[in-house]
Amino acid sequence: MLNFDDSSSSYSSDSSYSSASKSPKRAKKQPSATGLEFNRGGKQPLSYDIKIINGQTDQNQLIPFKYNGQPQAPWQRYLDSLQNNWHPVEISMSQDIAAWKQDHLNEAEKHLVMWNLGYLVSADSLVANNVILGIYEHITSPEARQYYARQIFEEALHTHSYQHIIESLGLDGEDHAMFNKYRTIDSIADKAEWNLDFTKALTDQAVIPGSIDANRLLIEDLVAFLVFEGLYFWCAFAHIFCLARNGKMVNTAEQYQYIMRDENQHFQHALWMLNQIKKEYPKLWNAKTEQRARAIINEAVELERAYAIDCMPDGGVSGLPVKTYIQYVEYIANVRCVQLGLKPLFKVSEDPMPWMDEMVNIRKEKNFFETRVTDYRAGGSLEGTW
Ligand SMILES: [Fe+2]
Ligand SMILES: [Fe+2]
Repeated sequence: MLNFDDSSSSYSSDSSYSSASKSPKRAKKQPSATGLEFNRGGKQPLSYDIKIINGQTDQNQLIPFKYNGQPQAPWQRYLDSLQNNWHPVEISMSQDIAAWKQDHLNEAEKHLVMWNLGYLVSADSLVANNVILGIYEHITSPEARQYYARQIFEEALHTHSYQHIIESLGLDGEDHAMFNKYRTIDSIADKAEWNLDFTKALTDQAVIPGSIDANRLLIEDLVAFLVFEGLYFWCAFAHIFCLARNGKMVNTAEQYQYIMRDENQHFQHALWMLNQIKKEYPKLWNAKTEQRARAIINEAVELERAYAIDCMPDGGVSGLPVKTYIQYVEYIANVRCVQLGLKPLFKVSEDPMPWMDEMVNIRKEKNFFETRVTDYRAGGSLEGTW
């Protein structure tokens, strides 16, 4: 039997904790990530036995529910997300196309848009890869997997949305440079590479699900990708929302509002996963874990500062000085720290861009940009703290 008992975890004794790419220890035996043979002919699993990670029950048997009815439970999040369907091509891009052609944006604003889309158009694919190739194999709760399956679809939708914006505005050329910025622009590549290191560590063939190293790497990965979605994406949306407040890129901003609503749910799910792992395996989240989680968030902020300066080399655009943006990044990093039960990292305590709050709730902001928004049903059901 694998060593899945909470009390026997020696997570805290792992001296390799500071590196995401540390070679993992091998477990004696690998549990199945595909199911069936786990329990063939065996007794019915009890909800008590189901665990987020390291569980011994079949991942394909959705019922009995373990977490349904609890706050932020993945099954309810999955059901809510089904009421939140949207389609990028249904949102008109006509105002942005006209504005771009007629040079309504100055050079600094255009540069910001190019660097913003250049990052985002590849980023959602990295998130999807991380779930499919990395996280999924380690998760033993069918309910949690069900929401991840929905998330993967939404990541594809987001990539579609960015592609649609780029194509609509005619930003891509024969060399497809816009779709290649995550390899050719250092500040973008550095962020992508940082996230990819966590995926690579978790997908290393030597990492055996259920092993101490696998649990450690999974937690690090969940924190890093919570930051990816809850900080990198979150803050990148501010670039476009700021332009939209000045009447520019209003259709793109509309697309981003729908994406942001999904991303809010994605990082809330990651947060729920981490909190649930903490509850089920308290020893996996100790002082060393907290130290590492803070270090991960700090690394992310450092990379975002460099990216921000690259996006706004002349000090910012109207309504968005780069200094204020960096303060906002630090503020959001502090919010994520607190949500994870960690001490804040930075001195900034007041939100330097409170107008971003208004973007969280799409229904409230329906007429914000004075553009048509398709009234997708039950959007309000996804409201929540961010
Ligand atoms: Fe996404
Ligand atoms: Fe996402």
